[in-house]
Amino acid sequence: MSEQKLFKVTIDNITTEVEPGTTILQAARKIGGDIVPPAMCYYSTLKDSGGKCRTCLVKVAQGSAADPRPVPKLVASCRTAVMDGMVVENITNQQVLEARDGVVEFLLINHPLDCPVCDQAGECNLQDLSYGHGDDKSRFEFVKRTFEPENIGPHIQLHMNRCIMCYRCTYVADQLTEERLHGVLDRGDRSRISTYISKAIDNDFSGNMIDVCPVGALTDKTFRFKNRVWFTRPMDAHRECSKCAGKVHLWMRGDEVFRVTGRKDQWGEVHDWICNECRYDKKKVSDWVIEGPAKMSRHSVISVNKYYGLKKPKDFLPEVMGGRDPKMLMNIHDVSGVNDPDIDLSAINGPATSKTFEKKDS
Ligand code: SF4
Ligand code: FES
Repeated sequence: MSEQKLFKVTIDNITTEVEPGTTILQAARKIGGDIVPPAMCYYSTLKDSGGKCRTCLVKVAQGSAADPRPVPKLVASCRTAVMDGMVVENITNQQVLEARDGVVEFLLINHPLDCPVCDQAGECNLQDLSYGHGDDKSRFEFVKRTFEPENIGPHIQLHMNRCIMCYRCTYVADQLTEERLHGVLDRGDRSRISTYISKAIDNDFSGNMIDVCPVGALTDKTFRFKNRVWFTRPMDAHRECSKCAGKVHLWMRGDEVFRVTGRKDQWGEVHDWICNECRYDKKKVSDWVIEGPAKMSRHSVISVNKYYGLKKPKDFLPEVMGGRDPKMLMNIHDVSGVNDPDIDLSAINGPATSKTFEKKDS
């Protein structure tokens, strides 16, 4: 059998070889690094996803070796297959960067800026995208689109106002669950995710809709408002499960498991889908074999204070202060009449709370 000819593609001046049928986005991911276009709707493990959000737009400066003409319009890299000799520009093309800024501006037109109260904050693709491409002000002068709250079942909270219509959750329902009970209703700016009519989404793999949602439109009711992701420590864990691979991230704080999710790769995509039993019913440490701390991308706020293999510089302050903790740098007793001067803050385990100052005899 003759070997399949590989296609040569150059993206932002870096050349690689890929199999025919590979998309520009997949080729860019093979190269890796900053030249990879962002993707808000494409999801490699969901068939037919992509082509909805336009965040992955790139410029094809040369169509192929056989036909070197450029493609006149920017193309969606997640849906455009590579040709042999193709030359693509992403971060090296000003037109692409401006178009991406425009796409983000459009995505934010109707998206509420409620990150401080949104459970997705810290792991939201749109939040990350806004930091990279968003403006510090909005030109939108109209009232944002809003929807009445809708209960779509016992496990998943729908915040339709935050939805960016990426369709990923509908592909999960189509491809992983026995029956799809929700979909996109209506058209244009009235389009919305909904169940028809007010059915409850509750089948074995439906929880994966939460993991694929790039924003906070679908969140886990068992985790809602319980914690911020950056306060939790993600651990790799597994268990024997008859329905799924049982490989998960446990989001822990101390010995408490706050949330169970599928494991995401460097592109934020889950490969081993998990069942609802693992996700919602196994919240005890004893349910799991813990493998160790999950490796999180350094750019993520979740990795804050959880770098592994990093040598921290020696902290000289306690030594300089004769063993006293730095929190005593300012003696709060000198400036506040509320606190009890008999309490030695250095001797308290953890931060002081109102309980610390409760009078024994009151
Ligand atoms: S609810 Fe989330 S996953 Fe579903 S279409 Fe909206 S943004 Fe996408
Ligand atoms: S990721 Fe390509 S259009 Fe959305």
